[in-house]
Amino acid sequence: MRRPYYESTIHRQIREKRENRYERIRNDLQEYGGEILASDEMKQAFEQTHHQWATVGEHTFSVAFSSVMICYALRKLNIKVNIPAVVIGALCHDLGMLGRSDKYSSDREAVAEHPKESVAVAKELLPELPEKTEDIIERHMWPLGDSKAPNSIEGAVVSVADKYNAVKDVVKGSEVKNTGVRNYVKGEKDRIKEALKKELGPQAGGSIRSGNEEERQ
Ligand SMILES: [Fe+2]
Ligand SMILES: [Fe+2]
Repeated sequence: MRRPYYESTIHRQIREKRENRYERIRNDLQEYGGEILASDEMKQAFEQTHHQWATVGEHTFSVAFSSVMICYALRKLNIKVNIPAVVIGALCHDLGMLGRSDKYSSDREAVAEHPKESVAVAKELLPELPEKTEDIIERHMWPLGDSKAPNSIEGAVVSVADKYNAVKDVVKGSEVKNTGVRNYVKGEKDRIKEALKKELGPQAGGSIRSGNEEERQ
């Protein structure tokens, strides 16, 4: 994480607290989900696109990260949550999407069927998958498709984290698109300016600001 040249005591304390929290989350993910993170399925997940702008792996990791963060907040409110179940459920929730185009004939079928398929993949990775974790995975799509509502606080955590990150992936995607359009427009202005200079001499094109000039403002 980049550190500012100068930071006040309060800002340093906030940063350190955040860094400690991130470190704790990473440790929890590794401790309870190490086997899943090291699996071939997870490697494959980082190669398959999901939600248009992320991979299954990136999305999975974000959902797991957010889920654990929500668990910490719940624990502060004295609400008991099973973090190992949340980590395993979040890391496996979309693994049924792997090989999506071969497994499912339509998006609708993928949405409806991948939770059950994710449970099957999770059971291959962890044969003694607890029933609670199975439910977390199977019900994560609620309220979409025909999914049943989560039947535990852990299931609700993963379902909410999944929706939050799915929306974030799409919004991030629209930002990428906007940036692309902005860069394209800047490039076009530079090209027009150069063309005018060639046609009319060096004084031409002054009214059209270049992309770099615009960036400096
Ligand atoms: Fe899903
Ligand atoms: Fe998901």
